[in-house]
Amino acid sequence: MTVRLVHQTEGPMPRSYIQHALIVTLSTLAVNVMATSETPQPALVEQRIEAMKELKTQMKLIADMVRGRTEFTALAIQQAATEIAAHAPEISGLFPEGSLHSPSNALPAIWEQKAKFDRLATDLETNAVRLANNAARQSQNDSKKDFRQIGRVCAACHKHFRQKQKDDGED
Ligand code: HEC
Repeated sequence: MTVRLVHQTEGPMPRSYIQHALIVTLSTLAVNVMATSETPQPALVEQRIEAMKELKTQMKLIADMVRGRTEFTALAIQQAATEIAAHAPEISGLFPEGSLHSPSNALPAIWEQKAKFDRLATDLETNAVRLANNAARQSQNDSKKDFRQIGRVCAACHKHFRQKQKDDGED
């Protein structure tokens, strides 16, 4: 019985079936194309969140040293500051217009005030380079000042361009 049923469905596929299959395939393709053109953002959002976390890690390392919790090691501060300076120029490119997908906390103000946003990223780089230099010449006072200045730049950018966080501190 079953065999006969199967047998009956063999033979040339009805035209409507082929058309239907083709439409399904094409629309799946279309969805995929749309998805790829619209979804590089989530990866990017995650990438920039990672980059920001990295900044936080470096800042914590420096904070502990300039505050005397750990030994002031010029080389370590220099390395951390250089890391920050290297990330800073990447920031603008990590925020293409409209990239506000979850889990992003970025604000649309970024693209309304792009020049300001970019300037803060540049300020971050300038201050991080300054810190690297001052740490290199063992100036704890200047390093402390530079560190504070960097913290202000982070905070200024977050204040304007990131949704309020429960744990808003120095980052
Ligand atoms: C030019 C602007 C800008 C500067 C400068 C900046 N940030 Fe951010 N930061 C942002 C924005 C915008 C977000 C939100 C990104 C998102 O959620 O998509 C963010 C998010 C973060 C986060 C949260 C990441 C998470 O877990 O969601 C941390 C931590 C952080 N920044 C640390 C820092 C530190 C530390 C500095 C300074 C050394 C810094 N940022 C400098 C704009 C900036």
